[in-house]
Amino acid sequence: MEAVVAVYSDWGIGAQGTQPLVVPADRVRFRQLTTGHAVIVGRKTLEDFPGGRPLKNRHNIVITRQNITIEGAEMAHDMEEALEKAKAYDRCFVIGGASVFKEFYPQLTKVHLTKIDAAPFSDSFFPDLDAAEDWHCIQADDWAEHEGVRYQFSTYERK
Ligand SMILES: NC(=O)c1ccc[n+]([C@@H]2O[C@H](COP(=O)([O-])OP(=O)(O)OC[C@H]3O[C@@H](n4cnc5c(N)ncnc54)[C@H](OP(=O)(O)O)[C@@H]3O)[C@@H](O)[C@H]2O)c1
Repeated sequence: MEAVVAVYSDWGIGAQGTQPLVVPADRVRFRQLTTGHAVIVGRKTLEDFPGGRPLKNRHNIVITRQNITIEGAEMAHDMEEALEKAKAYDRCFVIGGASVFKEFYPQLTKVHLTKIDAAPFSDSFFPDLDAAEDWHCIQADDWAEHEGVRYQFSTYERK
């Protein structure tokens, strides 16, 4: 299972239900990676999407403990159900949020990472893959910059 995540320099990923600092190129990369594939997303992160709607051109598997339906999405009520539904697709990305990353972390073998060289306040964090002995960076682009904020795309794999 793969994940896509943008982290700040303290491995923070967001605060109060949203990402305080976003780099447009990260959104483009996210779209390029996930379009045509499936995504597993937490119900709270879905609420932060434009209009609170599922992502277009992707199979959205929304994980929730509630008995709800969301138009344009498949619902899963625990990790096992989400993983079972993901099997129908050639490729599936875990796209957050924090609780979903935490629960799926043991399942992850590849992480498409964006490092954003800034540390706005975060209340949600992703594990520090640079400090994790069982992960290594297999590819890293040069650092780029948008409006004074440096960012870098990279890919990590579980050893
Ligand atoms: N930087 C990034 O790349 C990135 C990406 C995505 C999100 N984020 C950030 O992450 C933060 C949100 O994270 P979050 O942890 O608050 O919310 P979340 O993980 O998006 O959603 C949490 C909800 O998902 C459902 N859920 C989680 N685990 C479940 C399980 N095992 N079985 C059934 N349902 C489950 C529950 O929904 P119900 O309450 O409906 O039961 C739970 O309340 C925000 O700040 C957001 O901006 C950052």
